[in-house]
Amino acid sequence: MRLRRARADDCEAVWRINNDPEARKHSKQTADIPLAEHEAWYARALADPQATIWIVEHGSVIAGVVRFAREKNAATVSIALSPKQRRRGLGTQALMDACHRYQDENPGVRIEAWIVEGNKASVAAFQKAGFHLKRSQLEDGRLYVIYAY
Ligand SMILES: CC(C)(COP(=O)(O)OP(=O)(O)OC[C@H]1O[C@@H](n2cnc3c(N)ncnc32)[C@H](O)[C@@H]1OP(=O)(O)O)[C@@H](O)C(=O)NCCC(=O)NCCS
Repeated sequence: MRLRRARADDCEAVWRINNDPEARKHSKQTADIPLAEHEAWYARALADPQATIWIVEHGSVIAGVVRFAREKNAATVSIALSPKQRRRGLGTQALMDACHRYQDENPGVRIEAWIVEGNKASVAAFQKAGFHLKRSQLEDGRLYVIYAY
């Protein structure tokens, strides 16, 4: 497994991974994402100095995406792997590597993860990667558990 910075030509691969039903179900916006909407969002995200996107590669395959969205001194991290790449330890490893790198590049910035209550795989991966439960919060009618690194 290795991480590399996302590039413009990863746009469609990132869309496929983020648009997978399991990934949508556990995101703030659960609806399908039209490709055109994703393309506009992705171009903005790549140009945004507050956003950091890592591509998770496994061999020559794009296995997943880790994204940090920064607001002042805190960043929210999210992760999604393509279905075939799950349950092999990749998510845990990718989170550990991405958080180390993020803290090296952004010293003093806190890292948090918002996980939809009941997303067992995510809770397990974040805990194994060194996150601990901080609080719960209801937002738009859904309960989130918020983990801190
Ligand atoms: C969440 C996600 C990134 C986890 O990555 P992963 O590579 O599948 O997880 P790992 O293989 O590193 O497993 C970490 C732990 O979670 C457990 N786990 C993984 N999938 C699980 C599942 N579906 N149900 C319960 N536990 C699960 C593993 O057993 C492991 O614990 P163990 O070592 O004690 O057995 C991946 O499942 C995913 O992309 N899900 C869809 C998107 C999503 O929900 N993202 C999170 C939004 S915050």
